[in-house]
Amino acid sequence: MLKIALTKGRVERKFIPLLEKCGINCQPLVNKQRRLIVKLADKYEFIFIKGPDAVTYLNKGVVDLGIVGSDVLMENQSESYELLDLKTGKCQFILASTANYDWNNPKRKVIGTKYPTVAQKYFLSKGEDVEIIKIEGSVELTPLVGLVDAIVDITETGTTLRENHLIVHDYLDKVSIRLVANPVSLKQKKKEVFAFSDMLAKVVNQ
Ligand code: PRP
Repeated sequence: MLKIALTKGRVERKFIPLLEKCGINCQPLVNKQRRLIVKLADKYEFIFIKGPDAVTYLNKGVVDLGIVGSDVLMENQSESYELLDLKTGKCQFILASTANYDWNNPKRKVIGTKYPTVAQKYFLSKGEDVEIIKIEGSVELTPLVGLVDAIVDITETGTTLRENHLIVHDYLDKVSIRLVANPVSLKQKKKEVFAFSDMLAKVVNQ
């Protein structure tokens, strides 16, 4: 049995159709309701959790595999081995602000983000010292209420930015969903892990 941490929400919605394309009946995952652990095809045990917790579970070795966004892997201290880019759930990190924000203002910028590590790394690479405020959700709100000057966030369709009249100032790393393994499982369950990864690779590269 492979224990797989599956990130709830956007990642889960993109991943399940991929697994269905592999010929696996995913109804138990689709109809899971409030259950947090769902067994599938007598081979897999899916554990539904938030992305940063998936990284913790993998680092601690309580799951074999993880289906996690590369944004979460970049932000958190992941010790997992990346097996496959699932090439879905594509997003991009952006730096954005309201249209009237003056980027030439020499004042130390205040940045709102769910990704303080990613944001810090970006501004370090620009040689700029900024204040970072960690936000848990709806980051796009923070420049609108005057909490921050700009945000570092991910965008998929661009709808949230557009509807809140935010302007992209710079594009950072691209993001997609990755299949990762904890290094111990990679050794101890090598055959099962690679069977799962190879099965997904076939539909990803179709
Ligand atoms: C992400 C991101 C934006 C939104 C962008 O949030 O933080 O808010 O998606 O998507 P769009 O470009 O398609 O409009 P997510 O949906 O992950 O939810 P959260 O804010 O609750 O973390």
